Amino acid sequence: MIAGHRGAASLAPENTLAGFKKALQSGAKWIELDTQLSADNTPVIFHDETVDRCTNGKNKVADLTLEQLQALDAGSWFSEEFAGEQIQSLEQTLAFFMANDLSMNLEIKIHHDHQVQPLVDKVAEVLEKMNFPHEKLIISSFSTLALTHCRQIMPTVRLGYITEHEPRTTLVKLKPLNLYSLHIDYKILTEEMAKEITQSGLKLNIWTLNDIQQASKFRAWGVEMIITDKPDLFAQA
Ligand code: G3P
Ligand code: MG
Repeated sequence: MIAGHRGAASLAPENTLAGFKKALQSGAKWIELDTQLSADNTPVIFHDETVDRCTNGKNKVADLTLEQLQALDAGSWFSEEFAGEQIQSLEQTLAFFMANDLSMNLEIKIHHDHQVQPLVDKVAEVLEKMNFPHEKLIISSFSTLALTHCRQIMPTVRLGYITEHEPRTTLVKLKPLNLYSLHIDYKILTEEMAKEITQSGLKLNIWTLNDIQQASKFRAWGVEMIITDKPDLFAQA
């Protein structure tokens, strides 16, 4: 399975509708994207804590309202071709995914622990309101607090733990959450680790692999989902 990372981060500005369209056109069935709350408590699709790198604005996402966020240009920083791209709400994005039969790897992006509860509560509310199909969803996070809160309020949703470290100790702690998958930085994955993870019953997903030459090795190790900035390369292979 191929998932476009932040949409299709090498083809279009990350976490934008243009990126989701690029991933869709490239044949990817899955897209990874990041969500966090605006100042007026709307989950929006954005990676960084501030809008500085990926828009023409400044300030923290958490300090800007949805209206202020959507007034920004989230495309020109990447290329003039994408001028006027708007930050999307989670609700708008779910509608796009449902209309196009796409599956979502929804990363709960936590910059500070106090963000966990309000963000997860809102995400759950929006997923329910939109009636997004759970078989087309994995909720993932680096934050074990976020995963724990997700499990409390969404007993059956598929949860993935994201990490860039040796995962064994944390996975033992997270056992009660009944995780679905582990999403690991491909740079630290070894064949032995892969074996242990898949044998434990967890699905194994890697990020962010952009070198197509390495794909067959990881597939042989039992990797299920490759999260890549270049879904065009991988989905065709
Ligand atoms: O979901 C995997 C990957 O997106 C985690 O890293 O920083 O790109 O959100 P980041
Ligand atoms: Mg991410």
